Amino acid sequence: MSDPTRETVTAPAPGLHIGVDYYPEHWPESRWPRDAGLMAGMGVDFARMGEFAWHRFEPREGDYDFAWMDRAIEILAAHGIRTILGTPSAAPPAWLIRKHPEILPLDSQGRRAGFGGRHHDCQSNPAYRRSIRRLVTAMARHYRDNPHVVGWQIDNELGNSHDDLCFCRSCVHTFQGWLEEKYGSVEALNEAWGTAFWSQTYNSFTEIDAPRHTVAGKNPSQELDWKRFCSDLIVDFQRLQVDILRRECPRHFITHNLMSFAEKVNYYDLARDLDFVSHDQYPSGFYLSGIDPARSAAQLDVVRSFAGRPFWIMEQQAGASGWGVMGRTPEPGQLALWATQAVAHGADAVCFFRWRTCTVGTEQYWHGILPHHGEPGRRYAELAAWARAIRPQLAELAGSMPEARVAIVYDYDQYWALRIQPQNQALRYVDELQHWYRLFHEQNITVDFIPEGRRLDGYCLVVAPLQYLMRPGQERLYCDYVSGGGHLILGYRAGVKDDSNRVRAGAPLPGALLGGLLGLRIHDYDCLQDAAVGLRAAEDEAVPAGTGTIWADWIELDGAHPLLRYDGYNDDGPAATVHEYGAGRACYFGTRPDHATLARLLVPLLTELGLAPDPASGLEVIERTAGTARWRFRLNHGSAPQGGLPPYGYDITRLDS
Ligand code: GLA
Ligand code: ZN
Repeated sequence: MSDPTRETVTAPAPGLHIGVDYYPEHWPESRWPRDAGLMAGMGVDFARMGEFAWHRFEPREGDYDFAWMDRAIEILAAHGIRTILGTPSAAPPAWLIRKHPEILPLDSQGRRAGFGGRHHDCQSNPAYRRSIRRLVTAMARHYRDNPHVVGWQIDNELGNSHDDLCFCRSCVHTFQGWLEEKYGSVEALNEAWGTAFWSQTYNSFTEIDAPRHTVAGKNPSQELDWKRFCSDLIVDFQRLQVDILRRECPRHFITHNLMSFAEKVNYYDLARDLDFVSHDQYPSGFYLSGIDPARSAAQLDVVRSFAGRPFWIMEQQAGASGWGVMGRTPEPGQLALWATQAVAHGADAVCFFRWRTCTVGTEQYWHGILPHHGEPGRRYAELAAWARAIRPQLAELAGSMPEARVAIVYDYDQYWALRIQPQNQALRYVDELQHWYRLFHEQNITVDFIPEGRRLDGYCLVVAPLQYLMRPGQERLYCDYVSGGGHLILGYRAGVKDDSNRVRAGAPLPGALLGGLLGLRIHDYDCLQDAAVGLRAAEDEAVPAGTGTIWADWIELDGAHPLLRYDGYNDDGPAATVHEYGAGRACYFGTRPDHATLARLLVPLLTELGLAPDPASGLEVIERTAGTARWRFRLNHGSAPQGGLPPYGYDITRLDS
C-alpha cells in the first residue's frame, strides 16, 4: 500500500531508465567520446556525474570551472545520453580544509579526522555551509538551462562515512539549540533524561555536551536525543542544497542516493524533501557479507517504502566489490538478475556503479562495467543484453508498484535505542526485522516497511518486532487496528521504554494497554545471551520441536492462548500467544523462534488471510501493478535451473486483470 497522502507519480524523467555512474575527471578527455559511444552501444540513456569533483569545479576559492563538465555533457548528449549532476559536497577540497581546518569532524574521543578520504566534514560548520551554498548556486545557475541536464543528486550517501557525525563546538552548540527548542526549559530536559542519576543535572542548556567518550557509561536518554539531533542535522544539511536547486532549477528533479537500512539519518524524513528517492544496491555487500536474495529484497522494499513510491537505483553493482580486500566476482547472469530484482521491487531506473574500473584511488578494486583496461568484456556484454531486453518493459513499468498487504514496522527510534542498549549482545534490530521478512520472502508475499504513526488499515497483517519504545499514540493505533479486524504480531521487548528512553514502570510489561490487547502479562524475563531454549507447538504434539534464542519472556496468560510453549524451560510456560481482540487477532512472541518453527506456525495463518503463500517454485516471484496492468517477475537466484529458468535466469510476464 502506498502512502495515501502522496499523489501517484508520473515518471520524473520520462524515457530515462538505464544509466552509468561516470567520472570523466578520472580519464583523459580524449577517451570521453569512446566511452560515450560504448555507453550508447550498451543502451545507456543517462549518466550521473560530478558528485566528488569539487576541486575540478572550484580549483581555488570562488574560481569556478564548469567548462570541462560542459564538454563531457555535450559528448554524452551527442550519443543520446542525458546527465544527472551530483552536488560535490561529499568531497571538500584541500584548499578549503586548509583555510578552515575546523570543517574536519571531531569524533567522540576528541580526535579530528584528516583530509584524504571523503565526507571529512562537519555538517553544522558555517564556513563549509557557506562554501557549499556558493558552489551549488553557481552550478545551479550554470546548468539550469542546459537541455541535457535533467536533475540533481544531493551530496552522496548522506550519513555514510560518518560515525556519530561530529562532536565539535559548532555541533554541540547546535545540539543545545535543538534541545532548547524541544524541551523549552532545562527542568523539562532534566526530567526527560533522568539526570538525577549520578548527579547529571544541568542548570542551563549551555552546560550540556554531546555524548562524547566518558570514563564510565552514558545517559541513554541523552544518547537517543543525540541520534535524533544528528539525523535532523543531516536532513537540514540536505535541505540547504534542495532549497537552492528548487529556486534556481525548477525544471530539474532532485534525488539522493540512500543506503537501505543504514541508520545515520531517518530516511523517511530525508525523502520528504526529494522528488523521488534513489538507492545504492550492492547485493554482495562490502565484499564480506555474501549473497542473500532475501536481504537484497528487503533492502529494496525498505527503499520503496520511504516515500511509498517507485525509486531509482543510482548505483547498482557492476562487478566484484571491495576496497583493500575484494569479494567474489558475480557469476555470469548475476549482475543482470540483481538489476532485474531491483526493477521487480519498484525501481523505475537502474544506474550501474561504475562505468569503468578506476586505476587510481581508494576504489581500484570496486569493479565497474568495463575492466581497468577499458575494453568491453563479459560484464558489458551481459548488461548490454539485459538493457536491450528490458528497455521496452521499463518504459511500461514506470510508476507501477508492488502492492503489499503485509507491513513490517521499521522505525529509527527503535533502531537507535537498541543500538544504545542492545541488552543481548547478539541483538540487532535489522536482523530481527530480517528474520521476519525472510518468512514472507520465502513465501513470495510482498512486504512494505512502515514507520510508527502510519495508519495500518490498508494491511491485513502487521508485524511489529522490537517495539521497545512505546508511545501512547502508537499503542492506541495498534489497539484500533486489531479491534477493527487487523492481525498484529508484536514481539519481545515491546513497551519497555517511553519516548525519552526511560523505563515505563506503570504496569507489568508490556504495559496496561498492550497487555489488554495481547491478553497477557510478562512477570519476568531472561536475556538468553548465547543460550537457546527448547520450543514446541502448544496445540500439536506431533509438530517437531524448535529453539528460541536472544530472549525469553515468562508469560502469564490473561485471555490469550499459547501458540508455542517452552520445552524444558520455565515450567514449559507459553512462549508465543494469540489473543482474539475485537474483530481481529494479536499475537505475541516472547522469544525468537528459529526460522523453520516460525514458518510451521505462521504459514497456515498466511493462508487463512488469503495471502497465498507460494514457496513451491524455489523462485522469487513478485508483481508490479498499475490499475489493471500487472507484471509478474520470476527470478532464479540459484546456480541450478529451477522452475523453467536457467541458473540466475529471470522472466517478466504481463498479466493484465
Ligand atoms: C558507495 C558510494 C560510491 C562508491 C561505492 C563503492 O555506494 O556511493 O561513491 O564509494 O560505494 O565503494
Ligand atoms: Zn561539528
